[in-house]
Amino acid sequence: MTSPEALATELTRARERTLALVDFDDAELHRQYDPLMSPLVWDLAHIGQQEEFWLLRDGDPSMPGLLTPEIDSLYDAFVHSRASRAELPLLPPADARVYCATVRDKALEALDRTDGDEALFRFGLVISHEHQHDETMLQALNLRAGPPLLSAGTALPAGRACVAGTSVLIPAGPFTLGVNASEEHYSLDNERPAHTVHVEGFRIGRVPVTNAQWREFIDDGGYRTPRWWSANGWAYRAQAGLVAPAFWNADGSRTRFGHRETIPDDEPVQHVTYFEAEAFAAWSGARLPTEVEWEKACAWDPVTGTRRRFPWGDAQPTPDLANLGGDALRPAPVGAYPAGASAYGAEQMLGDVWEWTTSTLRPWPGFTPMIYDRYSEPFFDGAGAGDYRVLRGGSWAVAPDILRPSFRNWDHPIRRQIFSGVRLAWDV
Ligand code: AVJ
Ligand code: FE
Repeated sequence: MTSPEALATELTRARERTLALVDFDDAELHRQYDPLMSPLVWDLAHIGQQEEFWLLRDGDPSMPGLLTPEIDSLYDAFVHSRASRAELPLLPPADARVYCATVRDKALEALDRTDGDEALFRFGLVISHEHQHDETMLQALNLRAGPPLLSAGTALPAGRACVAGTSVLIPAGPFTLGVNASEEHYSLDNERPAHTVHVEGFRIGRVPVTNAQWREFIDDGGYRTPRWWSANGWAYRAQAGLVAPAFWNADGSRTRFGHRETIPDDEPVQHVTYFEAEAFAAWSGARLPTEVEWEKACAWDPVTGTRRRFPWGDAQPTPDLANLGGDALRPAPVGAYPAGASAYGAEQMLGDVWEWTTSTLRPWPGFTPMIYDRYSEPFFDGAGAGDYRVLRGGSWAVAPDILRPSFRNWDHPIRRQIFSGVRLAWDV
């Protein structure tokens, strides 16, 4: 279990990252780049407001806080839609920074006095929440029109193009889906508890689908052929006028964080909807994996009959194992991380791109909500919040501090501002 000292380091790392993503002038921070995203200044204060709520107010709305109830409620994501947030009387950036720093000072003081599993877990939740918003802010910055604010990103290892389009076999058999607090103390509620499931044999892509493969789909008329699409997918494709992944330009280039550049053939495709992923899979004679299949391919060790903490074993992620942390600002070419392969030989399961699965978000048997009880439950299948599909594996924008093979993300099947890609699966 992570020590209080390590939690303090992770809190600081998350905050440095957040502050770098809001290191712009006030007008910039108040801009709404796209109705899908919040202005950056909202994310900033929301990060502090949630931290205060869980660490300093015990998750109890009746406990007074540093903000007036009126201002506090501006940062309730369930009250104000993203599209409406730029019009709210938000804290100005300077006040938001002071507020976040004040909360953080008190949180670090509280950490010094903290022991007990549940109390420490709350710090892990705060770290995860902040990093998740950092990824959201990167999505916003990627949608921003105009000259780039961010660099083109740091260097990445070279790939092995020969692995594109290849697959690995996952033989039939039981595996342990999910984790328990006893082994993964900072796992979130929807990852728990561990339980045995039987999975039929299947094949899964050794690596995610590449831009070059996607280009073949386009050139073969994939976006004009209803046969490859689900009914809902085809209707959405027509309504939204989809002809290529988001950020691909008509001249064959792409725009990434304001940088216009050649589309790298061997990089995993990004910014596709679930509906496009489904169509691509059908065109390929494949299908998308379920999230259960995905997690088995990522974490199960068939030799020992146990889960690995990471696809490659016990070691914490490092830059030669996975593309994580956000500095690259793009996925690495396929085959760049042979040392990061899972027991079955699947590569790049963590990092690079979020991978769409066919699964709707549902609780594992025995699900118990955490202190942030609206993190998962409102989004469960049948909860009425709408249609969600699970994405797995994290993207290049996810912090290594918060990612595990059991981590579950979800979004609407029409979304593609997220760093979403595709890994194919096949029946055997
Ligand atoms: C788990 C990424 C779907 O952004 O809606 C942040 C994470 N929840 N604050 C989201 C989250 C509340 C969540 N996702
Ligand atoms: Fe949030």
